[in-house]
Amino acid sequence: MGRFVENYVGEIVLSLMLFKGLLMSEPIRILGFAGSLRKSSFNRALLRAAGELMPENVMFETFDLEGIPMFNEDLIAQPPQIVKDFKAKIKAADAVLIATPEYNYSIPGVLKNAIDWASRPYIENVLDGKPVAIIGASTGMLGTSRAQYHLRQCFVFLNVHTINKPEVMISNAMEKFDVDRKLQDKKTKELIGQLIVNLIALTEIFPKH
Ligand SMILES: Cc1cc2nc3c(=O)[nH]c(=O)nc-3n(C[C@H](O)[C@H](O)[C@H](O)COP(=O)(O)O)c2cc1C
Repeated sequence: MGRFVENYVGEIVLSLMLFKGLLMSEPIRILGFAGSLRKSSFNRALLRAAGELMPENVMFETFDLEGIPMFNEDLIAQPPQIVKDFKAKIKAADAVLIATPEYNYSIPGVLKNAIDWASRPYIENVLDGKPVAIIGASTGMLGTSRAQYHLRQCFVFLNVHTINKPEVMISNAMEKFDVDRKLQDKKTKELIGQLIVNLIALTEIFPKH
């Protein structure tokens, strides 16, 4: 019953958003990034799949974390250009979608490093109050669950509005994607679709500031 009401409210908010979007022609901006740099990454493929599932009024853009240097607190007042670009993209977005692998039961360094940059200086934490959804694919059995919970823990401190449900934890990724890394699993597509609906609904509750 609880989930039915949750989904129902989510659908109503989304319908209102779509209507408002049509009237005002203002797209909802969602920024996606993945915690893997490799070309045939399942998580990068997951972001592409999510992009194909976005409603028409969403402007979905991805940011490649390749090239973001290791965090150095000496540089936070004048960070490298790629960090400035990354922070500006997060700031301009209404919401963020993160696809994370799991490395050694936790968040990949590439992703944690990018989040550390985004969070500093602390008074300019660009993730503050941002609606964020997490997805993840692993070749293991637990579908990045440990990495996702570690990420959620970081987001408590950073005051991120992380979507709770549905959790999109894709195990045995090689069975869900084809050889071209196109997502084939119907249930996973449905889950991502629902997550996007909930993420869009959250942008109405926590608008960009
Ligand atoms: C350094 C490293 C650590 C890993 N640790 C885990 C792990 O803790 N849990 C897991 O399910 N898979 C783990 N894996 C396997 C990843 O799930 C798999 O490599 C996955 O495809 C990585 O995501 P990507 O395809 O987006 O690059 C690990 C892989 C690497 C390279």
